Amino acid sequence: MPEEKTTTISVIKADVGSLPGHVIVPDCMLEILEEHLRKEMKESKLLNDYYVFNCGDDIELVLSHNRGEDDEKIHELAWNGFMDAAEHARKNKFYGAGQDLLADSFSGNVKGQGPGVAEMEFVERKSDPLLVFACDKTDPAAFNLPLFKAFADPFNTAGLVIDPSTTAGFEFEIVDVYDSKKVRMSCPEEMYSMLALLGTTSRYAVKRIWKKGEESEKERVACSVCTEKLNVSAGKYVGKDDPVAICRAQSGMPAVGEILEGFTTAHLVSGWMRGSHKGPLMPVARADASPTRFDGPPRVVGKGFQVSHGKLHGPRDLFADVSFDHTRKQCMEIAHYMRQHGPFEPHRVSEKELEYTTMPQVMDALKERFEDI
Ligand code: 13P
Ligand code: 13P
Ligand code: MG
Ligand code: MG
Repeated sequence: MPEEKTTTISVIKADVGSLPGHVIVPDCMLEILEEHLRKEMKESKLLNDYYVFNCGDDIELVLSHNRGEDDEKIHELAWNGFMDAAEHARKNKFYGAGQDLLADSFSGNVKGQGPGVAEMEFVERKSDPLLVFACDKTDPAAFNLPLFKAFADPFNTAGLVIDPSTTAGFEFEIVDVYDSKKVRMSCPEEMYSMLALLGTTSRYAVKRIWKKGEESEKERVACSVCTEKLNVSAGKYVGKDDPVAICRAQSGMPAVGEILEGFTTAHLVSGWMRGSHKGPLMPVARADASPTRFDGPPRVVGKGFQVSHGKLHGPRDLFADVSFDHTRKQCMEIAHYMRQHGPFEPHRVSEKELEYTTMPQVMDALKERFEDI
């Protein structure tokens, strides 16, 4: 039987310059990416559709095509757009110009070269709601708690209890972000040991989720997350990973509102000032993704589409709703409380998490002065 035609959504992101400091992407840079992709749509058949947005100082490209994941041409298209925007940022002395572009030229795939990538190839259903999430001032494990809640917690997701197409649960692929290892686990059967990994946010992150069933993986795929560690790739502190994620909703997956419900905890994540502080992840409208208090607190923006024959209808700005005001207020209270700790843990992240910051230099300078006791 011939394989069914698939749609691929590639979300590729990079911070290539911002103003002032690490706050937001200037409109002129978003326009460069818009123009780059508009031209591509007009001149070739690479893309079916695209959407450009930002979360704080990160540019997010949502690319719809039929070329599958890890496609060289799609990655190169994104890379070239980011290079153009970085050039503009350099000319205008915007902050962190070219920050996430770790190489001078493209080498076949943007992974390991700085930009973050979440991709999903799937067979379109009768109707396919697709949600794209983008964070600023945090790392990939920021998604662990919301995704666990949405896909595994029956107190969050009613479908796990009352929808026969969802009650079997989901399979999770979890990666060790420092050791390039992955493990696939089945939920609810392995929920407790899965939580042992997902709760260790300094090391493990959700990479992919599938619903269970007889269909192919391209029909069952429910979620894909960018888990690249920017500072591990760079070998030094250049900025935070600021990850993206893609989720499919409804009809055997959690409903749109069940996925969004996962983001109502005001949970603590790593990132914030200098990528070195714990703070609450605040769900906001794109217009409010302006991380200014102590360069934060960390933000997440959600964009909701209907995918139809490769076209991206929408999006709706998912957290632009008063029903998230309560979570935002809690985030602000927690942010204020955490700030009172100044340089003390657990506001400042642990020594292990500071490995790729400037902290080791401070410690090195003191090394000679330590005496045995
Ligand atoms: P509608 O009846 O509006 O389609 O909603 C069904 C549903 O599943 C909401 O989560
Ligand atoms: P970004 O990772 O968003 O560039 O922020 C870096 C930083 O150091 C903020 O204080
Ligand atoms: Mg930046
Ligand atoms: Mg950023």
